[in-house]
Amino acid sequence: MPRPRGRFLPILISAAVLASGCATADLTPARLAVSPAEQPLVEKGRALFNDTKLSGDGKFSCATCHPNDAHTNNKTYVGVDVVKDGDPRGRSTPTMWGVGQRAALSWAGTAPSLQGNIRGIIVNRMKGPEPSPDTLAALVAYLKSLGYPANPYLKPDGTPTDAAPAAAKRGFAVFERAGCKACHLPPTYDKKDVEDVFSGGTFKVPSLRVVRHTAPYFHDGRFQTLDETVKFMWEYVQKAGTSEKLTDADLRDLVEFMKIL
Ligand code: HEC
Ligand code: HEC
Repeated sequence: MPRPRGRFLPILISAAVLASGCATADLTPARLAVSPAEQPLVEKGRALFNDTKLSGDGKFSCATCHPNDAHTNNKTYVGVDVVKDGDPRGRSTPTMWGVGQRAALSWAGTAPSLQGNIRGIIVNRMKGPEPSPDTLAALVAYLKSLGYPANPYLKPDGTPTDAAPAAAKRGFAVFERAGCKACHLPPTYDKKDVEDVFSGGTFKVPSLRVVRHTAPYFHDGRFQTLDETVKFMWEYVQKAGTSEKLTDADLRDLVEFMKIL
């Protein structure tokens, strides 16, 4: 068996991070291990990610919309223009944390690869010059080095640990019972295929990891809170014909589960 490539192995969460709880740790992406040979490429990618020269008018860098170590600025865009959340033409900005582990890219779910997706963003969204293969490779290496934040409440398989709050553990049981897992598959809580959940078209099944930090929700950013979003999905599974009886208490637990992801 070949040894697994180093950069895919998450750095061990230090005891100090766990002891301090996740108050600060959950706002920082995990640094996935990168081989010494690849480190310069990652650093080059980080610099490019913050470089406004990638855009046609020299005003935008990737970090403009994905600030704080490539997270999201929680805004909805058409091109480089901010639009009202919920505008059907708008697309809400996803976080880059964990992007290398994601099953599908872009809300349409049609981006062929991280490389192809980034090229499209530079040329079409940012109206920048055609990027060189080296530029794309560096940006990909940087993004793949960013993992989901350390999380004491989730096991590597994505299920809750004993340390997770009781309501969140109950919520996970509801998540399984209600059939949410048919689309949001742990540990990343997404899926490769696109789905139509009566939200205005066919979209990728987004990852639910760090979902508490990625409002506004849905492709067009129509929902500001997890309460509203989960209620919509809840009504969807009922329309889709689940035979499970789901109570308001179940719905509240489900939201608590979303908050630990
Ligand atoms: C003007 C704001 C803006 C800028 C600048 C921007 N992005 Fe984004 N990014 C978005 C939005 C909005 C989406 C969702 C678009 C969609 O899926 O249709 C997105 C999606 C992505 C995705 C897909 C992730 C996923 O889970 O679907 C990647 C990868 C990405 N951006 C990387 C970059 C990189 C690299 C740069 C710089 C070259 C960049 N972005 C510049 C707003 C921006
Ligand atoms: C048939 C597949 C499917 C099922 C079942 C499903 N979802 Fe989803 N979910 C989606 C799709 C597709 C979207 C994106 C819709 C959009 O952007 O318009 C989504 C979006 C979400 C979001 C918003 C994420 C974000 O970043 O915007 C949350 C939260 C969510 N689902 C939770 C749930 C919960 C809880 C359940 C169970 C009650 C559930 N989903 C069941 C397919 C599914």
